[in-house]
Amino acid sequence: MVSMTATLDAPKGLEGVVAAETTVGSVRGIEGFYHYRQYSAVELARTASFEDVWFLLLYGYLPDRSEAARFATQVDETSVMPDDLISMLPAIARCHGGCGLDALRSAISLAGGSLGLRPWLDLEPDELRHDVLRVSCLVPLLAAGLRRCSVGECPIAPVPGAGFAANYLYMLTGTLPRPEHARAVEKYLISTMDHGLNASTFTARVVTSTGADVAAAVTAAAGALSGPLHGGAPSRALDSLDAIGAVDRAEEWLRDTVSSGGRLMGFGHRIYRTEDPRAALLRDVAEELGGPLVELATEVERIAVRVLAELKPGRDLYTNVELYAGVVMELCGIPREMFTPTFAVSRTIGWCAHILEQAADNRIIRPTSRYVGPDAPQPLPATWAR
Ligand code: ACO
Repeated sequence: MVSMTATLDAPKGLEGVVAAETTVGSVRGIEGFYHYRQYSAVELARTASFEDVWFLLLYGYLPDRSEAARFATQVDETSVMPDDLISMLPAIARCHGGCGLDALRSAISLAGGSLGLRPWLDLEPDELRHDVLRVSCLVPLLAAGLRRCSVGECPIAPVPGAGFAANYLYMLTGTLPRPEHARAVEKYLISTMDHGLNASTFTARVVTSTGADVAAAVTAAAGALSGPLHGGAPSRALDSLDAIGAVDRAEEWLRDTVSSGGRLMGFGHRIYRTEDPRAALLRDVAEELGGPLVELATEVERIAVRVLAELKPGRDLYTNVELYAGVVMELCGIPREMFTPTFAVSRTIGWCAHILEQAADNRIIRPTSRYVGPDAPQPLPATWAR
């Protein structure tokens, strides 16, 4: 008989626990390095297109020219929003009071029904891959469509051949973006596609391990991403820059926040003990775009790292992805409410790579807990009446 006794106590937050084997990618926190498959994610963001990296995560290798062209066509043809979803978007935006990640989460859940997705346990591997592509193509349409509905406009369809990032900005704003904005957003989107076994990716794998459909896993992952300790930070990081307002007020504001027990949004990371390599990449992207917001952010970063080192000694707290992610998105015209949904748009690609991997070698993820309440069983209270 299999022993039902727990044999291992995992640390709080599962820190350092290896809970899956993966070939999707990994994060090396001491070095400040992360990769997709066997390639540096930062190098991919600097040199490749969103679609090429998407293909890499989906199929495990970089496409040649004809595969890349075929994949781009497939993405264009799959990027169509079903009519029933289009008609539901205004109500979803209204119920959630806007177009944040909570609204997108609801829309993805409804998309599972609209697309007729079935539990992957009942599917052939090719059918699951098809579902993964359909959901990945739909998420940017839903995110942008919700934004437009929340400001009283109609969703618009992508332009075939325009490219993923340009199309995303087009669907948000109704105008094809300047090439430098499309490329800046593309670099951001590539750099955030995947990042080890973070909370939302783990969530996607847990839900997938039950045999559930792709939309169920992506909906749950979006719920995990929405928290301010995970993907909900970039707009808060920019709110902090607004509150600081000018460099000469930064030191006092940052000291007061940390001394009173607050957290500086856009700083600190569970894995990195160095600067987050995504922060370095996106700082470069922001500096290429230029302007007063970038100057403020770089000064605030410099002061914050010093303040954190002084007030939280030994914690190795540096900038994470969120500070410059917020700056880049703001400079490219993405509204703040769309920062976390935009993160979800790119992270869906990583979630889906993990969904495929989990399904290919599955065992239901079912840890155990240590009960620390009063001794059981005890008699029901004599005074308790129903
Ligand atoms: N500001 C101030 N203090 C911090 C910060 C911060 N941003 N981050 C960590 N600390 C401090 C904590 O207060 C704690 O101090 P203590 O030991 O005196 O209590 C210590 O550093 C360790 O903090 P933990 O919460 O144990 O670190 P953990 O690894 O669990 O958390 C996290 C990582 C959640 C990212 C944390 O650094 C944080 O809250 N950062 C701010 C929010 C943020 O930027 N989130 C985005 C993360 S990136 C992403 O998910 C894509």
